[in-house]
Formats: sequence, C-alpha cells, structure tokens
Amino acid sequence: LRAALQDYTPPPYLIDSVHLNFLLGDTVTRVESCMQVLPNHAASERPPLFLHGCEDVKLVAVKVNGESLPVEQYEVESSGLTLKTPPAGAFELEVHTDLHPDQNTSLEGLYTSGGNFCTQCEAEGFRGITFFMDRPDVMAKYTTRIEADKAACPVLLSNGNLVGSGEAEGGRHFTVWEDPFRKPCYLFALVAGDLCMKEDTFTTCSGRSVALRIFTRAHDIGRVDFAMQSLKRSMKWDEEVFGLEYDLDLFNIVAVDDFNMGAMENKSLNIFNSRLVLATPDTATDGDFGRIEGVVGHEYFHNWTGNRVTCRDWFQLTLKEGLTVYRDQEFSADMNSRPVRRVEDVCRLRAAQFQEDNGPMAHPIRPESYIKMDNFYTLTVYEKGAEVIRLYEAVLGKAGFRKGMDLYFQRHDGQAVTCDDFLAAMADANGEDLSALAKWYSQAGTPRLSVAAEYSPADKTYTLRFKQASCGARRLLLPPTPGQPTKDPVLIPVRMGLLAPDGGEVPLKLRGGEMLGSEAVLRVTKAEQEFVFEGVEQAPVPSLLRGFSAPVHMTVEGQSDEDLLHLLAHDTDSFNRWEAGHVLAKKLMRALYAAAKDSNEVGGRGLGGTGMVCVYARVDGAFKAFAISLPENSELMDKIPEADPILLHEVREFLTRQLAARLRPELEAAVAENDSAPGEQYEFTAAACARRALKNKALGYLAALGDPGVTEQLLHRFRGATNMTDEINALAALDRAGGGSALPAALTGFYQKWEQEPLVLLKWLALQAGSNVAGNVAAVRRLMAHPAFHITNPNSCYSLFLGFARSPVNFHAADGSGYEFMGDVVLQLDKINHQVASRMVSAFTTFKNYDQQRQALMRAQLQRIMDTEGLSDNVFEIVSKSLKA
Ligand code: ARG
Ligand code: ZN
Repeated sequence: LRAALQDYTPPPYLIDSVHLNFLLGDTVTRVESCMQVLPNHAASERPPLFLHGCEDVKLVAVKVNGESLPVEQYEVESSGLTLKTPPAGAFELEVHTDLHPDQNTSLEGLYTSGGNFCTQCEAEGFRGITFFMDRPDVMAKYTTRIEADKAACPVLLSNGNLVGSGEAEGGRHFTVWEDPFRKPCYLFALVAGDLCMKEDTFTTCSGRSVALRIFTRAHDIGRVDFAMQSLKRSMKWDEEVFGLEYDLDLFNIVAVDDFNMGAMENKSLNIFNSRLVLATPDTATDGDFGRIEGVVGHEYFHNWTGNRVTCRDWFQLTLKEGLTVYRDQEFSADMNSRPVRRVEDVCRLRAAQFQEDNGPMAHPIRPESYIKMDNFYTLTVYEKGAEVIRLYEAVLGKAGFRKGMDLYFQRHDGQAVTCDDFLAAMADANGEDLSALAKWYSQAGTPRLSVAAEYSPADKTYTLRFKQASCGARRLLLPPTPGQPTKDPVLIPVRMGLLAPDGGEVPLKLRGGEMLGSEAVLRVTKAEQEFVFEGVEQAPVPSLLRGFSAPVHMTVEGQSDEDLLHLLAHDTDSFNRWEAGHVLAKKLMRALYAAAKDSNEVGGRGLGGTGMVCVYARVDGAFKAFAISLPENSELMDKIPEADPILLHEVREFLTRQLAARLRPELEAAVAENDSAPGEQYEFTAAACARRALKNKALGYLAALGDPGVTEQLLHRFRGATNMTDEINALAALDRAGGGSALPAALTGFYQKWEQEPLVLLKWLALQAGSNVAGNVAAVRRLMAHPAFHITNPNSCYSLFLGFARSPVNFHAADGSGYEFMGDVVLQLDKINHQVASRMVSAFTTFKNYDQQRQALMRAQLQRIMDTEGLSDNVFEIVSKSLKA
C-alpha cells in the first residue's frame, strides 16, 4: 500500500524491447504486448517476475516463448500478474489484455475524450493498459501498431517515427511507430481519432529539419498558432542557452479537452490539456498566453530533462520536474519581462507552496514515502524543486551551473538516475563540495531565517548576524513537519547588497577578504553565522535575499518603514524593490486585521493606506500593477494564528476601498494612459501585457468604489472589449462593483456569446463560483446542472469547485455550508475521477490555519469523508494524513 524511498531495489528483470499491438474498438480494445525480457539478477537465482496491472485490465492470454503459459505457473490479482518461475536467461513474454477506454473516467491509461482515444501514463497509468513492469528504471525500446476504424479514427499516432501503415479488414486501417530511444513506460503515448493538424518546421542548430505538428478537433485548429510559435521559440532557446538539440524528425502536440493535469511530455507525442494549447486574443487572456508559452516550453524541455535522462524511481520526481520548471521559468523570463516573471513565481510559491509546507501533507522535494504517487505532483516537488535548482545557480553562478548541466547530460544520457547524481554532476563539474545542499532534498518545511544588523561608527564595520533552524538554536526557527520533529541548518545563499543613506551602493569587503563589488552571495550554512563588512562609512540599509535567492521566510529584525521606503526608492535589484512595497502592504494588512479583531470593526481606527499610496507613487512601469496588488490572504495567515478568513477578507475590501478613494485620480490616469488606442491590434508582448495589467488592476480598484459612473464605464468596456483580457476583467470588475442590475444581464450576454466555446465558459463558471456574495453556494449547486458544466471534465471541476473554494465568504461561511458542499463534491467525484477528487479534498488540508469553530467544521467534513466506504487511495491518503496531524 505504501511505497518508501529506503526500500528501493533494482528490478529483477529488464524489458529490452516491447512490441504493442492496439486493436481499438467502439467498446472493447484489445492490447497485445510482446516483450523481450532479460534477467537482471544473479545467475544462481530464479526470482518471480511481477508485472503491475489494475482492476480495469482483463487478462486474455499469457505466452512464454510462444507457448501458452499453464495456469499454475502464474497468478493474476487486481494489483498485477506474477510469473512464478520464469525461464532462465532471456525470454519472450506475450500478454493480451482487454480494456474499455470509453468507460474510463479516471483519465489515466487509455481513455476517450470527445470521441478520440488518448493516453496518460505518468505516473502509473501504463498498468491500466497492459501488465508491465511499470517503474521508470525499466527502459525499453518500443514499436507500436495501432489499428482502428478508418472513418472514426483517420489519425493514428504514437511515439517516435512512422515506419508503416496500411489498410485492414472491415473498413479498418493501421499505422506502425518505432521509437529509437529507450524509455520508461510512463512516456508511452497513443492518440487515435478524428483530428485536424497544423504543420510547421524547425531547423535545428546542426541543420536537421524537424516537422512540428499540432493536432486538435476541427473546430479548434484555428487557435494553435501561438502554441506553434512558442514551440519554435522553446527549441531555439534550449539550443542557445543549454546547447540541447531536438533528437527526432517529428514533434507532435495533441490537444484534448479532458485531461487531469496541464500536459504530458510523452516522447515526441506531447498531449496537452486544450486550455494550454488553444488561444486567440478574443478567447484567451494574457495569463492564458503566458501559461501556454510556459507549458509548451516545459513539455518540450522535458525531452532532455526527463526523457533522455529520466528518474530512477518516483521519489526522484523533482529531478525532472524541479529542473524543468526552472528551465521553463528561465525561458519565460527571457521571452518576457524577467522581473515581472520572478515576482509572479515567488508570489505563487509563497501563497501556495509555503502553505503546503505548513500543512499535514508537508513533504521534502524528494518525498520519502507515498500511498498514491499522483498526490505528490505538488507545488513542493515542482515549484520548491525549481527554487532548489536556483540555489545551485546562486552558488555556482550561471556559467558554473551550465558546466554542471553539461556534465549531467554527458554522464547520464539514456539513464534513469537520482537527485544525488544531479548534485554530484554539479559538484564535480565545478570542483565544489555541494553536500551542504543535500539537506534541501530531505527536509520538509520552509526554513526561517532571521537577520540582525549592527553598525559600528567607531571602526566602520557593519555586521549581519543570521540565525536559522537548528536543534541547538535557542528558538526553533524551522518548525517541525509531520514525521520530521527536528531540522538541521541548510545552505542558504543570500544574494545581497548594502545601500548608503544617499541611495548609492556600498562597495562590499568582508573582514579579511577581498573586495566583492556591490553585490555578493553570502553562504549561510550554520544555525548562527555572522558576516562583518569593513570600510562602511555610514550605517547602510541592507538589501537581502535579492531575487529571492532562497525559498525561506526571512525576517529582518528592526526593519523600519523608512528602511523599506529607502529600498523601494533605491534598490538596484528589481525584485527587492517590489518586495519592499510588498512587506509594507503585509504590515499594513496585519495591523488592520489585528485592530479589527480587537475592536470588532474593520478600519474603525481609521488606519489608512498611506504607506501603500507612497508605494504606488515610487514604483515604475511594469511593476505598478503589482505594486497595487495586495498580498494573498494565505501569505498573511502565516503570522495570524487561528485566522478568521472572513474578517481578513473584509480587511482586504476595506483597504481596497481606501486605496481606491485616495488614489482615484492616479487610478483614472492609469486607465487613460494605458488604454488601447481605437483599432489597436492585440499583441502578447511584455509592454502590452504590462499596460493591460495596470489598466485592469486600476479598473478593479475603481470598481470597489461602488460609484454608478464607474459601473456605467465598466459596462461600456465590457461590451466594447476587443480581447478576452479586457472582456473578462471588465466582467469581473462589474461583479466587484456589485454590478447592480447590470451584472446578471452581462453574465447572460457573455454566456450566449461564448456558448460554443467550452474554454471561455470555464472563465464564466469560475467567475460566478468565486463570488463573495453571501449565500452563493446555492448558485454554485445550481451551476452543476447547467449545460456549461460537465462533472467528468476536470477543467470544469477546477473552475467551479476550486473557484468556489477561493471565496472566503462562501467556502468559509460560518454555518459550514461551504465545507459541506465541498465534502459532497469530494465524495461524488471520487466515484468518477480519483485524481480530481483528491485535488478537491486539498481545500480542507489548511484547516489548522483557521479559528476553532472552522477547524471543527472542516475536520467534521474530513471525518465524514474518512468514514465513507470505498474511498480511493488518492483521497484516503490526504484525508488520513490530515486527520492525524
Ligand atoms: N509530467 C507532467 C508535467 O509536468 C505531469 C504529469 C502528471 N500526471 C499525473 N498523473 N500526476 O508536465
Ligand atoms: Zn513537468
């Protein structure tokens, strides 16, 4: 039931090659698998051979070396097939199975979406297709024959190169694909159906021409141009930045509407959730365009970090995911505004991953055990994993990092390896001892780093004293996480500079060391450690953790508002300039919350947004939209024990209105200055996105004033919008403005306009689901019966239910109605799709952050779920761990 990292043993057999024959049918699909098996054990042994399976796969035949295997020589259970005494030496094993892809609502293994066949095998979905050694360290060569009805499935795709095709009996046809690269079965893919295709070519750095093809259903084929451009840009970028060239003559992307996650990097046949492929300015927002570019890059980059070099076992998932997220973040930063991307990535990490670190599912980026691997495709493994890759870059510099990457590929191309192998390549390539980074892979939780500074005018020295988690520390700075009561210090690279009172940069010279220039990376490795700078003429303001150089909670002791305003005005590091404003906003919101808690009245003491007004005035360009974005509630709650989420929401609303009132002329000017000119073409460029972001952010603030003139303007903008970014933002702002009588009509109008576009309707569902109008849970229940909602479609569920869970007023309603609704949703979904159900149940895992009454209500839902018969492993794992915490 539970897999553990420490139990790893190499597989007793290997599968050298496999030939698959898929006979796709309307109801039943037959899969014939023929494997060349090699022993991988001592010659004196004859261990049994276990092949993973699953309940929905029916065994039809087993043959060894061409002969049917007598029943007493094997055993079939729902978990798999055991050959009790396989032949000595190499042998051929043939397994035939029957499946029902049309009834497969789990969207793992082989299933249908919109009438077309597709697969999702990561992490352990291949066992839902045939009995196999479904583990990533078994790497085989694949040939795949696909046969299907010609009319229903004109397109038949798998990994690698097309090596054959032809007609078959009864109006059927077939193709044969051969993948020359060894791969684990999680990278296998098959697509069959009625699809349209758009083609382009890319010429690689060594002059090979690669055919690039994107497949969609006919209706959607006009929306793939941006994804195609993104793919070409990714291919070029990987050559230029990492020297990595594509390795086949064909690269396919297929878009499907029903997909649990974002996308999948199957060798040369990427399969994508359609929302991450399809985009035109009228149907997709700037955010959608950005995500498409990032995810197309991400899946493409996996070809080297994931496919050519893969994971030994699933505990190593961050080896490919953390690294590939880092690569897609860097790609997006190079294509767009680097500072804006960094702020976005850090906000996401702090708002969501830090929460994961703080909850019952907290795990290291390399987890030590799991019940269901799918539960560990987390922000921790992905996003924190990427931050850990960034630590290598901070320590080694960009050039040193590249050297390490080169050695990693040189050593491990074609292998299934571990995070330790990655660390060793980085260390060896640079002749550095990086063992101090290893703890980041095994310790869960967000390290807390506190810094105290002291200036000595007498000897012109400036001392920074860092303290981090350690069993020996006076105060335990890194709190325990489930299963890890104590923590050790980790290597924290602190990128920093010092700012003089006039705003200039102080040249850095460590005591006894050489001149460092104006920026340095301090390596904090001990529980308590100090750095003394010499020749500092006047007391400086420190700029620490520039670019967020490590994923930690940092507290700068005694940091004043004046210090923060100084950084805001003068820091050369754009991230820290933004951060200064963000810290000011957090302080303000926490103070407002504390005052409201005491007096039972939000804003009763008249605390205004003066600091924030200053922030706005001092920040420039692309950052202005961020500068007026308030910190997420989840980020604030870290320092508010037993938070009342509705009160926190009211504080946010109050502050928003205050800021809107005080900044009204500036906000109106921002709208006017950044409005698009009549007839202006939509462009997805950093500059154009920044203008739309600021304009729409400003409109959102103005909406909070509840002024009829503003509502009128929003309605006008909504009707006249020429792109989805402006259209959906105007609709959302109308909702914020209370909308009055105009809102229902606007919502209906939007629905009618986009009735044929499921991806646009996802936005319509999410907007209504997230409403903070009290009692909205009834409307959300009604939407479940609306034709725009499909309970078997993951995107539909994410929009409606996760949209609802984001409403503080309704999900956290004091009467428990929101929790009860989500409890119902989890139980209903668990019968349809385990992965989607477990994403829903995650809404309850933060219960410890809230006040006692809410904790009790949330716990009660968890208990109710726990007491239900027939829970999936996915939901069971999250619920049981939550209740234990
Ligand atoms: N490897 C895919 C990606 O990063 C994610 C697949 C996740 N699948 C799952 N069942 N958990 O891009
Ligand atoms: Zn990935």
